[in-house]
Amino acid sequence: MSNTLQENQDYKKYMVDSKLQYYKPHATKIEKTFSQEISASLNCKSKFISPKFFYDKKGSELFEKICTLPEYYPTRTEVSILEKLPVELLPFLDDSTRLVELGSGASVKTRLILDIFTKLQEKTEYFPIDISEILTESSELLLSNYNQLHITGIIDTYEGGLEFLKNYDDKKNLILFLGSSFGNFSPHDGYAFLQKIHSTMKSGDLFLIGLDLVKDKQILENAYNDSQGVTAEFNLNVLSRINDELDADFDLKNFEHHSVYHEEKQRIEMYLKSLVNQSVIISKSNLKLNLDKDELIHTEYSHKYNLSQIHTLLDSVGFSIENSWLDDKKLFSLTLVSKN
Ligand code: TRP
Repeated sequence: MSNTLQENQDYKKYMVDSKLQYYKPHATKIEKTFSQEISASLNCKSKFISPKFFYDKKGSELFEKICTLPEYYPTRTEVSILEKLPVELLPFLDDSTRLVELGSGASVKTRLILDIFTKLQEKTEYFPIDISEILTESSELLLSNYNQLHITGIIDTYEGGLEFLKNYDDKKNLILFLGSSFGNFSPHDGYAFLQKIHSTMKSGDLFLIGLDLVKDKQILENAYNDSQGVTAEFNLNVLSRINDELDADFDLKNFEHHSVYHEEKQRIEMYLKSLVNQSVIISKSNLKLNLDKDELIHTEYSHKYNLSQIHTLLDSVGFSIENSWLDDKKLFSLTLVSKN
């Protein structure tokens, strides 16, 4: 039994009961990075806000709402693929394989995989990794539904969580990375991130990644600019969060959600558009921000892929492709890879 986690000085451990524990970086570390990152990313020529800051409690709830919107096909399509997976996934699992999930959020899709694990195992271990506190609620809900489940939640960035997992013990891991969240990285950062996953994995570990596929521009633009305005609210919420946590005075009426599909780059690009010339004070970041009318603050990319690009990418990092699954309409993909 490894004691690595207990000895990890960067995290505070919260032991809820014998089936549930969390690790969270010390509060000062989190606050410091938020204000520093915001001050750096808004104090430059092409302003941006890192999408990981979307997910405060309100943001996480809004994102769950996005997942149920009629225009937002990715979630229900990925679910439809996951529902057909069990038989094909079984041969890859044994009675002690641990389930790890990057960006677990509300852990709704996780249930489809947990159903497979809990049929096979007497005790199932699940390590959700999420930057949002929503992880605590989702974990308690899961435990009330799955008797043999043991959860170790890591409330941190993906990178922090992976570092945590590395050398934790010898158990075989299946790492999930669903929802095409990988597409939110820039190509450069995405490649580095896949390398990080690859280096975290032991030989025999598995990685299941859900990626959105290239498709008609209108379908894509509707998915990221829904008629009920939930995506707009989600995008704008990051400014409320900065107001609350970094003592800023963004006036949300002076901004608009703006998203477009860039066909050549195969990505949705999301921005917050300044509707007027304005200046904003962000006290805790020591920043006075000047924005011109129509100036854009970049908040998110969502890259779309075709199958051969996915295979080439995973292959170039050194993964072995075990299987890929698509829905009937070829909207979304799941790919299972291993490390030899
Ligand atoms: N991973 C999701 C995606 O790329 C994230 C997402 C969906 C998102 N809708 C959004 C992020 C709206 C910001 C705003 O589809």
